[in-house]
This record gives sequence, structure tokens and C-alpha cells, in this order.
Amino acid sequence: AEPLRIALAGLGTVGAGVIRLIETNARLISARAGRDIVITAVSARDRTKDRGVDLAPYAWEDDMTALAKRDDVDVVVELVGGSDGPALALARSALDAGKALVTANKAMIAHHGIALAEMAEAKEAALKFEAAVAGGIPVVKGLREGTSANALERIYGILNGTCNYILSTMEDTGADFGEVLADAQRLGYAEADPTFDIEGIDAAHKLAILAAIGFGARIDFESVRTTGITRVKAADIAQAEALGFVIRLIAMTDVEEDANGAPQLLQRVRPCLVSKDHPLASVDGPTNAVVAEGNFSGRLLFQGAGAGDGPTASAVVADIIDIARDEVGAPFSIPVAQLVAMAPHEPGHRMERTY
Ligand code: HSE
Repeated sequence: AEPLRIALAGLGTVGAGVIRLIETNARLISARAGRDIVITAVSARDRTKDRGVDLAPYAWEDDMTALAKRDDVDVVVELVGGSDGPALALARSALDAGKALVTANKAMIAHHGIALAEMAEAKEAALKFEAAVAGGIPVVKGLREGTSANALERIYGILNGTCNYILSTMEDTGADFGEVLADAQRLGYAEADPTFDIEGIDAAHKLAILAAIGFGARIDFESVRTTGITRVKAADIAQAEALGFVIRLIAMTDVEEDANGAPQLLQRVRPCLVSKDHPLASVDGPTNAVVAEGNFSGRLLFQGAGAGDGPTASAVVADIIDIARDEVGAPFSIPVAQLVAMAPHEPGHRMERTY
């Protein structure tokens, strides 16, 4: 078969990770994909920066959107980030040109995923975003395919590695919020703007995507009720500990019926008490974990690295392999027109819970 030709936009830690992964695992990837996967062209802000990978074999484009117009490109991989701007321009040009789009961009999918999926459907092009949610954990695939026979009762978990690192380190060392945040930034887990992490926005982006897939709902990022971890004090953590709990930033979504039987989508991100007996309580450091409760599958736990070059590259390349095999399907599991526009769940008439 003809090789599948990839263009890579954005050469930060994840972009460099994708190049390394495709080079290191080339043989097993082509065996599983049924054809070779080759990078033909790349683009990033700075051509000269040392990324520890050799860019000489690839054509360079100064203008990212030019990648979408090249004849030697079948798949555009967007690793630029940001909900709008160059990332969105590139995504639109790629789909408009009928090329497959693979992205790790949770903010862009949370804001524009439905519009992009409509474009993808119209052009019969693939749109894949496994890496946008929970890094290396195949949770998009897990919900789209693995639990597709179930009515899901709830999806919840830890979707931001930076916050989890901060909370679990505060718990272990008694250190201050500010100190630990600086460490998380140094270690490269945090977003370019760490406000997105600590205010819960990054987790909310990911939750809105999972809710759409899990419940067949149209993405509704605006109505995720979001509280971050900036007001969590060392004293809160100590008090929780004394009662047999830890504090974790939990993203949770479920669907409840209103008085007329219409579905309402509850989406919430906030610091929660998690009982030490619960599997999420032992999730430490920059790890992510997602629990999906299906009516036949029972409680499933997906756990692993939610950020970092290797894990995120692993998810990106899995999407590329699906495209090479022509195993694509609808981005949100069902066609966009069938996704239900659910009203947000009204707060106030349900028991608050711990985990
Ligand atoms: N800043 C994100 C996190 C990176 O800490 O989880 C992965 O999306």
C-alpha cells in the first residue's frame, strides 16, 4: 500500500515526541497500520530551535496553513495549541482540503469540535483527538468504542495532571500551593498559561469532550460549572486527611431527566473529598484517571500519564494508525446531527456527594 504522509504543525515537547515515536517504532507501526507512516513536512514558530530531533528529512513550511495545501500530505497533525488563532486556521484548512486532521488540542475541540466535526463529515475527512483528553490514556477510544454497548451512568475522574501533582504533593510534603505550582511549571506539566490548569479550565475542556462522546450530547463547554484549586489550603488537606479523605480536582458529568423527562447534562469540575478507599485517592503526581460507569460494563477505571511527550505522542500516533487502516468513524461516536443539545442541569436539587 502507499505510505500515509503526515504533516506536523507544532514542534514542542509533543511534536518532538511524535517524531521520535514514529522513528523508533517504525517497523511495528507499519505492520499494524498495514502501510508505512512517513512524515513529509513540518512547521513551527522557530525553525532553528534545538529540539533533539533532526528535521533535515522533512520539508519546512514557515506558514503553517501551507501544510494543509501540500500534495504530499494526507494527514495534518495539529500540535500548536490554543482554542483559536493559528491552530483553528490550520484545522479548518486541513478539513477544507479534505485531509485528515489529528489534534491534541482540547481547548480547540471543546470550543469548536462540533463545527470541525461538521466540516469533517461534509468532506468525508477524518477528525481524531485522542491526545486531547488525558494524554496517553486511550479514553476517547475507550468511551467511543469500548463502552459503546452501554448506557453510561456517570463519567468522572482526574483530568488535569498539574492540579493532581499540586494537591498530592501538598498532601505529601505540607508545602505551599505557590511553591508546588512553580515545580509543576518547571517539570513541564502546566499549560503555557497555568491559570487554565489551576482554575479548572483545562479539566473542563476535557470533561466537555468526554460528556459529548459518552452521552451523545452536543459539546457545551460554557455550562461546565468550574472551580479550581487556588483556594485549597494546606489546612484543608490536613483536615480531610484526619477524616479519611484526600482532596482531588474531580471532573464529573452525568445526565439527569428534568420533570418532563428531558435530559439535562450535568458537568462539573471542582475540588472534592475522595475517600481513601476509592481508587482515585491513590492517583498521585501528574497522573490522570477516568472512571466510566456503564449499565452493563460496571465501573471501569482508565489510568495513566495525562501529559508529557511520550504518552501524548502515543495517543497521537494511535490516531494516525487508525487513519492508515481506514478505521475512522464519527469523531463523537455518532453523526453530529444526532448529538442531542441538552440543557445544562440546574444546580440545587441534588445531594452533594463525595467519592
Ligand atoms: N496542563 C495539562 C495537565 C497538560 O496538567 O494535565 C495535559 O493536557
